[in-house]
Amino acid sequence: MKQKKTSLTQYLIEKQRTDHALPAELRLLIEIVSRACKTISHAVSKGALGGVLGSLGSENVQGEVQKKLDVISNEVLLEANEWGGHLAAMASEEMEAIYVIPNRYPKGEYLLLFDPLDGSSNVDVNVSIGTIFSVIKAPSDVAGREHICEEDFLQPGHTQVAAGYAIYGPQTMLILTVGEGVVGFTLDREMGSWVLTHDNITIPEDTSEFAINASNSRHWEAPVRRYIDECLAGTEGIRGKNFNMRWIASMVADVHRLLIRGGIFMYPRDAREPNKPGKLRLMYEANPMSFLVEQAGGMATNGRERIMDIQPEGLHERVAVVMGSRNEVQRVTDYHLSPES
Ligand code: AHG
Ligand code: MN
Ligand code: MN
Repeated sequence: MKQKKTSLTQYLIEKQRTDHALPAELRLLIEIVSRACKTISHAVSKGALGGVLGSLGSENVQGEVQKKLDVISNEVLLEANEWGGHLAAMASEEMEAIYVIPNRYPKGEYLLLFDPLDGSSNVDVNVSIGTIFSVIKAPSDVAGREHICEEDFLQPGHTQVAAGYAIYGPQTMLILTVGEGVVGFTLDREMGSWVLTHDNITIPEDTSEFAINASNSRHWEAPVRRYIDECLAGTEGIRGKNFNMRWIASMVADVHRLLIRGGIFMYPRDAREPNKPGKLRLMYEANPMSFLVEQAGGMATNGRERIMDIQPEGLHERVAVVMGSRNEVQRVTDYHLSPES
């Protein structure tokens, strides 16, 4: 007999029914985000045919040039999520301020953060990109208040109730955690449905593959340089084994690789802009990816402390990132904490 395929909807309903791990409102939220990701996937895959490649000439709050698809993806996510009644507000890489659900719609208890299109420098060269999202609860007193504000979002990553990403690559996939492990769905384009294809994703503890933008090596701090030098020394060095290197320049694609086959991903603090503690954004890149990596048995730090324990001070705050296979992330973190080790 042909084995029955499990859809995302079935997976979520079963989670809601059997272990009561998933409130109905959160299920609705995840369904709506995943539907928006289908729309973005469709726009991305049209490429030049859809007139969606190239830049707009505008800059976002980070001072980065906005691609047409950055803005399209942001709008798709806002429109999909504003009317469902499950959210109090949203925040995005592409918007300086938070987006409060308009008064004409009912409001819910969740806050949604997203990087609408991650790796957008890769859009025009047809390399994998993605959408990253993070869900937290609004503080409990928010219902009695007139306004929701940015401070309501400033919660450490360990308060996340769900996180995930969609990757637009050779296959479009959705990787998700609701705090009970990590699962992956592949988009069946003909049927338009997300099919469970990767149950219980786990990251091996050891790896011999690292991902870092080596063009920044002259700016790195000593512990990172030491770690990479030891990897590069291969069998002749103290690690006694050869390492392989990959760098896609889409965090989604680099993290997806390590969730599937292990590895360590780093965008460390460097000396280019001393006032910035890293390139990647804490609240809608590092936190959701850390939640996934930890749920898959891996580890995620900023070189010194657990990323999900960092108290955010701003919506667009940056952070150094070291994540992936547990034993390698521990090694890099040890090098930062006790350089003599
Ligand atoms: P975004 O496109 O959302 O701004 O994110 C890009 C990020 C991340 O996806 C990737 O890991 C990193 O930037 C690549 O940076 P470099 O170009 O410095 O390698
Ligand atoms: Mn990004
Ligand atoms: Mn982005």
